[in-house]
Amino acid sequence: MSLLAPARRTLLFTSGKGGVGKSTIAVNVASALARRGLSVGVLDADVYGPSVPRLLGLEGERVRWSDGPHSQMLPAENFGLKVMSVGLTTPESDTPLVWRSSVAVSALRQLLTDTAWGQLDVLVIDAPPGTGDVQLTLAQDVALSAAVVVTTPQPLATDDVRRALRMLQEVRVPIAGVVENLSGFHAPDGGVHQLFGEGGGRTLADDYGVPFLGQLPIDPELRALCDQGRPAAACGDDEQMRRFADLAARILEQLADARRQ
Ligand SMILES: Nc1ncnc2c1ncn2[C@@H]1O[C@H](COP(=O)(O)OP(=O)(O)OP(=O)(O)O)[C@@H](O)[C@H]1O
Ligand SMILES: [Mg+2]
Repeated sequence: MSLLAPARRTLLFTSGKGGVGKSTIAVNVASALARRGLSVGVLDADVYGPSVPRLLGLEGERVRWSDGPHSQMLPAENFGLKVMSVGLTTPESDTPLVWRSSVAVSALRQLLTDTAWGQLDVLVIDAPPGTGDVQLTLAQDVALSAAVVVTTPQPLATDDVRRALRMLQEVRVPIAGVVENLSGFHAPDGGVHQLFGEGGGRTLADDYGVPFLGQLPIDPELRALCDQGRPAAACGDDEQMRRFADLAARILEQLADARRQ
């Protein structure tokens, strides 16, 4: 069954690979889009390891239901974003989610369709790592406008990301492009240290014939802000805000180009 997303545009942030910064980039791009005046929702599709509530300072929040016969879950709100996550539905933030994949998929469907999102310009979806049932449901059953694929700079160790790109292309999800995260550490002395190698993002984009959306450096301040639940795109310094504003603008350009084609 096809699931209609509750927004004019739906953007999936995915990778295949774990720990590359999908959630960090998803919430910060969402925040940058909200700062452009768009009405933005964030769906945390990482039903086993939800991290969006912490990243957006909503860790203590629990989901509420609307009144009336067709009661729906009310999204939590912060930084101008409407947020829904399994993490908002569990008794504690560390409640383990020991689910078979069929249960995880129905939880995801429910988060998407039983939430009172209202009118959204953009729904940002943060995918879990891997290419399993949840990812397949997102790619096949949700009406996605485009996927943004996050990778790290290693030229070779990108098999998981390649698998994700292949899966998206096979089920014909438009790909807005590849973002390379953790691209070099800019030391205070002005030197740039390529701790995770160089060039992987552009190579990957070229290999699969998709746009390269740019690089984000290793930024210890960004990590600290994430841990505090304060997205750098809204609470960071000018440089951090500009980085995410630029990335959000490039993604919107790709969406506009895709519509013209
Ligand atoms: N550019 C960056 N600079 C510094 N730290 C970063 C950067 N991007 C992400 N991180 C940190 O790396 C860790 C992993 O990031 P994140 O949780 O966003 O990855 P993920 O791909 O969503 O992981 P998972 O696969 O578990 O969902 C976090 O601690 C985050 O703060
Ligand atoms: Mg994540």
